[in-house]
Amino acid sequence: MRSEVDGQILADSKMGRRFGFTSDKFDPGASWLWKVDGSVYLSMIWVHEAERNKGHTQALISSIRKAGYTVKVPTPLGPMNLILKKMGFKRKDENTEMGICEMWVLNDKGEKR
Ligand SMILES: CC(C)(COP(=O)(O)OP(=O)(O)OC[C@H]1O[C@@H](n2cnc3c(N)ncnc32)[C@H](O)[C@@H]1OP(=O)(O)O)[C@@H](O)C(=O)NCCC(=O)NCCS
Repeated sequence: MRSEVDGQILADSKMGRRFGFTSDKFDPGASWLWKVDGSVYLSMIWVHEAERNKGHTQALISSIRKAGYTVKVPTPLGPMNLILKKMGFKRKDENTEMGICEMWVLNDKGEKR
């Protein structure tokens, strides 16, 4: 199920659709997903206002995990923080090209479910 191609995952792309990352739920101009090796980074997520609190973000995260990827969220804000804690994310700061970055990680062991 894992794809070997790294880079941005676009809303409505084949991989995006597999994860439920579609433009009817998420604003494609303000939502940024990146695949790097065995991880998918949610660098920004923006759900259309009318679609909020319907579980789309939690479903997106669950789908990515079920596909075998570690999910990573840098510097989460507001309600995103609460969602990540509820879903069992752990803070594990990451040494990036830009220096140490606050990173919240769901399953950094990379095992498949
Ligand atoms: C944060 C955001 C991405 C969540 O997306 P979503 O699809 O609505 O999230 P879900 O429906 O999967 O989960 C929402 C959960 O957060 C809770 N929640 C939402 N807003 C909240 C708030 N202001 N205060 C407390 N809890 C809040 C809901 O009660 C729900 O929890 P529950 O499942 O226990 O009932 C969305 O609200 C959004 O796009 N916000 C604006 C942009 C933003 O802040 N992005 C995150 C930046 S890192």
